[in-house]
Amino acid sequence: MIFITGSTGQLGQELSRLLNDSIYTYRTFALSEWDITDLHRSQEILDIQPDILINASAYTAVDRSEEEREIAREVNSAAVGALAEECKKRNIRFIHISTDFVFTLNPIVEDGHLRYWKTNSPTRTLGAYAETKKQGEEFIQSVFGDSPNYHIIRTSWLYSSFGMNFPRTILRLLKDPSRKELKVIEDQIGRPTWAFRLAEFLLNLIASIHKKDGNLKPIYHFSNSGIASWYDFAVAVQEIGLKKGILKEKKLILPIPTEAYPTPAVRPRFSVMDLSESYELMEKIPHWREDLELCLGDPKTILGWNV
Ligand SMILES: NC(=O)c1ccc[n+]([C@@H]2O[C@H](COP(=O)([O-])OP(=O)(O)OC[C@H]3O[C@@H](n4cnc5c(N)ncnc54)[C@H](OP(=O)(O)O)[C@@H]3O)[C@@H](O)[C@H]2O)c1
Repeated sequence: MIFITGSTGQLGQELSRLLNDSIYTYRTFALSEWDITDLHRSQEILDIQPDILINASAYTAVDRSEEEREIAREVNSAAVGALAEECKKRNIRFIHISTDFVFTLNPIVEDGHLRYWKTNSPTRTLGAYAETKKQGEEFIQSVFGDSPNYHIIRTSWLYSSFGMNFPRTILRLLKDPSRKELKVIEDQIGRPTWAFRLAEFLLNLIASIHKKDGNLKPIYHFSNSGIASWYDFAVAVQEIGLKKGILKEKKLILPIPTEAYPTPAVRPRFSVMDLSESYELMEKIPHWREDLELCLGDPKTILGWNV
């Protein structure tokens, strides 16, 4: 049996709908049913003895984390360490989701090219959210040590047809009649990721766990393939939005540097992660634009794209 925390989040919802059509038995828990900072509740639920726990919950408000550092630390670090300990005690496989924001060193240049972050690249964070996520990873690693009973999946620029995310914000701004143009950052580069595809990757990982594949890694990087700036991502949202009839009118989107849009949290300029090990679990990882088209055409969207 698989247990999932944070079931109302983007990843939580995509996991639920995939697992619903799968061979696996699972239970999902919303924050109201299982607050992972409540140790007693975690122990009570893990005593049911699932085989696998997927922690899809997190404090994900990147900018707000700067002010609410303590809450972010409780959810993303302390509670994650506690879950790891409780899973280890009960021999439950722990799958945890982390972020590309653990890489905020200046990118490494090799042969004139920016090097993609590998799973063993050194991490260094600047913002509070990133720091708490990094600490969560470290707690898991120190609890499990050399035991192969955990996986940390780092992902990036997650979006879905559920919840608030970048494509939804861009659609809302483009629909706002009072706006003639939109300015979007062009010097932060990463990999957009459709949460559905991440959920699919996690199911592939679970299938390999059940097959007792001995080659599984403790850390994976999973995102869509291809790279983009936020500006590229916004332009694609507009193009696809127009094609799918979500938008009626084309607006000017202007590229701007990070300095022109200051935010409380400092974000990495180049957080493209190397995906080579993830190809061992998913033969074809679609290009981000291909999945953006699928997501914006998703008939099962809960909120609808009428943002
Ligand atoms: N979003 C991104 O761009 C991004 C990028 C890289 C990595 N990630 C990582 O990917 C994972 C999934 O992200 P997501 O976008 O699906 O997140 P999300 O949509 O913000 O969902 C997070 C979920 O966690 C729940 N939650 C918050 N505090 C909790 C607590 N104390 N106990 C139990 N549940 C709690 C939230 O409940 P409520 O909604 O009721 O508050 C929500 O259901 C996270 O680990 C995140 O750090 C996300």
